[in-house]
Formats: sequence, structure tokens, C-alpha cells
Amino acid sequence: MTRRVALGLLAGVPILLLVLATLDALRETGIPGLPVVPWQTLWALPLDRWIRDIAAALTLGCVVVGGLLAPRPDARLLRAASLCAVVWLVALACQIPLTVSELLGRPWADSLDPVIVASLLTQTQLGQFLVVQIVLVGFVVILGWAVLGRVTGAVVLALALAAAMLPALSGHSGLHSGHTAASISLAIHLASVGVWVGGLIAVCAYVMSPGRTPTDAGVTLRRFSVLALVCVLLLAESGLLNASLRVDGIATLITTPYGTLILAKSVLLCALVILGWRQRRYAVSGIDTEPGARAVLLRFAAFEVVLMGLAIGLAVALSRTAPPTGAIAGDRITTASLTLLALALPLVLVWAGARPAPLVRITEAYPEPFAVTVVVAAIVASIIVAAGAVPIGLATLVAGVILVLAGWAFALAATGPRGVPAILLAMVLWIPALWWTALSWTALGDPAETPLQVGLAILAGEGCLALLLLLRERRLPRTAEPAPATVSVP
Ligand code: HEM
Repeated sequence: MTRRVALGLLAGVPILLLVLATLDALRETGIPGLPVVPWQTLWALPLDRWIRDIAAALTLGCVVVGGLLAPRPDARLLRAASLCAVVWLVALACQIPLTVSELLGRPWADSLDPVIVASLLTQTQLGQFLVVQIVLVGFVVILGWAVLGRVTGAVVLALALAAAMLPALSGHSGLHSGHTAASISLAIHLASVGVWVGGLIAVCAYVMSPGRTPTDAGVTLRRFSVLALVCVLLLAESGLLNASLRVDGIATLITTPYGTLILAKSVLLCALVILGWRQRRYAVSGIDTEPGARAVLLRFAAFEVVLMGLAIGLAVALSRTAPPTGAIAGDRITTASLTLLALALPLVLVWAGARPAPLVRITEAYPEPFAVTVVVAAIVASIIVAAGAVPIGLATLVAGVILVLAGWAFALAATGPRGVPAILLAMVLWIPALWWTALSWTALGDPAETPLQVGLAILAGEGCLALLLLLRERRLPRTAEPAPATVSVP
């Protein structure tokens, strides 16, 4: 059962590859004078990084839950931690030839040249960090089998945390001028992601394992719930701090691929916070007393893990994307940002219960006009930003407010009793609206988004609209919540 929950993390792979494909990051560029990086490396490196991040998270989670949070050290989870650390180790080892191949533009076969590998590992900071990481993870593999009590559990956790945080010292953060703040914030981000994501899966495995007493399950789950809250706070704060060091002004959040990826992760985090809060309220409190609480816990966790998987997929794509240099008047809003602000964020708001009665009454009565409004808002917002008539920061704020308000009103209308036709209408209109905004940008003479980028944004929009349908049918996790008050209009 828990294995099926963990499989939700795989949702990150297609989104990672799709995003990289739309950013043209999976194809050899062949710029004259620069070494050509083989396409195999461009595919394998992000996938290897994804495996590394997932394996690190699962290792951390199993050690935290099995070694520290459970009333007694849990041998099964600690052995699982060791196995995950082996996968982590293999991913780190694969990173060596892949990095050589990327840095020098060499085919895989030539990237294992011992002289080049030795100079990467001894003479570059990236290589030295890799060696330290490999050593630390090697210790975790061995010591994971030897955890006998809290002290050894804490030692293994410290080693795993250090290894998980080390990549923060290289990559974009290590290269940035605000080096220390960027590195520390990313290190905290990576550690909190690992403990939270891996911990959730590990705690589900612990609670669901046969023969687990309700008392042990309750104690461990409640301890994890507090830790998860701390992790989410740290993760959000460190992620936002790191992002603020990388993006120059809020306009870059909607006009550049890097900013759009951060926006998407922020929306996913909002959804995860809501799920976590509901899980705490409906599953955690009754785990040792209510018979159905374990099933509720798994249902919430399954959905959370899919969203976490998507966030990690986007994170790896983010780390493979060049940070922006800053937005200027006339820059175009990305179609993905339009989708995030007009459809995804409002969906999360309504799902969270932001349903003021007067607005519900108005929107539910005539839902179709709100479907048209949200589509028109997307076109208007893109024109406001692209026109360059007002400073780009102000244009971004105005466009953002228009999109979120129109999207929120539409989401309220769509989840009302007569909402289905409005959702279907929006599904149909969203496609030409995004194509139109993309085409109008081409007409203005600036580099337009590629058809693949617009296609992905449209697909994401249709996905949000499909989720609205599920929200109407109460098939998104809202278990045990009283039905929202609906006001019927004659
Ligand atoms: C407010 C929300 C968030 C913000 C602003 C944010 C921001 C960032 C930034 C700026 C980076 C550095 C990327 C680079 O190297 O250029 C990063 C990395 C990362 N983030 Fe987040 N993040 C957020 C939420 C999340 C969530 C919810 C998860 C997962 C559940 C996550 C997982 C990761 C991972 C795994 C990395 C490292 C990727 C890698 O280098 O392989 N983040 N994040």
C-alpha cells in the first residue's frame, strides 16, 4: 500500500522532461566554438539528479522516522534507509562521468578517462564536493544497518543531512554573488525537503506496517506532524529567500521561465500546505482511536506525494535553467504564468475554503459569464504587461490582481451547482486564448514562446479545469469536512 503511495513521486519525471523539452534543454545546441554536449547527457543528467534528490529524501525520511521519531528504532525502516542510500550513492557515482561529459562536451564513452575524472574530482570544487558526498553517503549505507538506538540514529541522520545539503554549495547558488546567503538558504531548503517528503512516506510505511500498535502509530505520527510543520516553514522561507537572490524583481516571476517555475512551485506548496493541514486535522488526531483514520491518512498522503513529486520535478528543471537577468518594460508574460495565476492559484484558494457567501451567491447564479471573464482577463493581462506603457513592476501587479480575481470568481462559479457547462466552456476557450496571446507576441516582433511551451501551458490549464470538475464531485481529498454552505438562487 505504502509502495503505491511512494510511486506518486514518479509524477515528477514526465513534468521534468516536458519542462526541459519546452526550454530546449534536451537537445544539442551546436553553438560554433563551444563543445557540443551529447543529447544522451542532456537527458541523463537531470534524470540522475532527480534520482539523487528522491533517494536522498527517502534516506533522510527513513532515518528520521525509523531512528528518531518512532518510540523504538525500527529495523525495517533503517534497512530501507540503507538501501535508498545505495541508490543515492549510485546516482552520485553516475554524476561524475555525466558532469565530465557536460563540462567538456564529450561522449559518454570518453568521459570515464581516469586522468580527466581524477582532475575533476581533485582540482574542481564541484568534484571535491562530490567526493565528500560519496564518502558521507557511503557511511550512511554502512551505518544504516548498525543503528541500535537514538544516538547512532542521530549520527546517521547528521551524515545524511550533511550529504543532502552539500549540493547547495555548488550549482546556481555556489556561483551567485550573494554566495553565502544563497548557499545556506538552499542547504536548508534541501534538508527540509528531504525530511518532509521522505518522512511522509516513511511515516506511512511505519503506521501501516502489520502489527503496529495504535499507540506507537499515534506517537510517531504526531511527532512527525510537528516536524513536518517546521520543515514546511523552513522550506518556504529558504526557497523564497533563495529565489529572491536569483530573480530581479517580481516581474521576472511571470516573464521568464525561471520565474515561472518558481511561481509553479509556490502554487504547489500552497496546495501541499492545505493538504497537510487537513491531514493533521482529520487523520493525525484520530490515528490511535478511529478505525478509519489509517485509510484517510493514506488517501491524503497519496495525493500529497504526487504534488511533492511534481514539485521535485520542477525543482530539478529549475536547477537546469539559467537564472534570469531581470525584466524590462515590454517583456511578455509567459503562457504558463497566465495559467498558474488565472486557473491554478484560484483552484487552490477555493479548495482551501476561500468561499465568501456573497461572492458564491453571485457567481453560482450565472457561471458561464465568469468562464468568459477569466479567458478575457488572461488576454487583457498579457496586453497590459506586453504594452510597456507602465513600469513593468506595476504592470505585473495589475495583471496579477486581474488574473487571480477573475480566476477566483470563475472557480467559485465552477464549483457551484450549475458549474459544469462553465468549466467546459472555459476548457474550449482557454486553447484559442493562449494561442492568441502567443501569436500576438509574435506579431509584436519579439521572440514568441515556442508551440511546445504554449502547448504545455494549455495542457496545464486543461488539467486545472479537470481538477475543478473533481473538486465539484468532492473527489479531491476533503474527507470528513462539512459540506460548504451552498446558497440556492431561485
Ligand atoms: C515557495 C516555494 C518554493 C520556492 C520559492 C523554491 C525555490 C527554490 C530555488 C530558488 C531552488 C534553487 C534552484 C537553483 O539551483 O537554481 C530550489 C531548489 C530545490 N527545491 Fe524548491 N522551492 C519551493 C518549494 C519547493 C517544494 C514544495 C519542493 C519539494 C517538495 C522543493 C524542492 C526543491 C529541490 C529538491 C531543489 C533542488 C533541485 C536540484 O538542484 O536538484 N521546493 N527551490
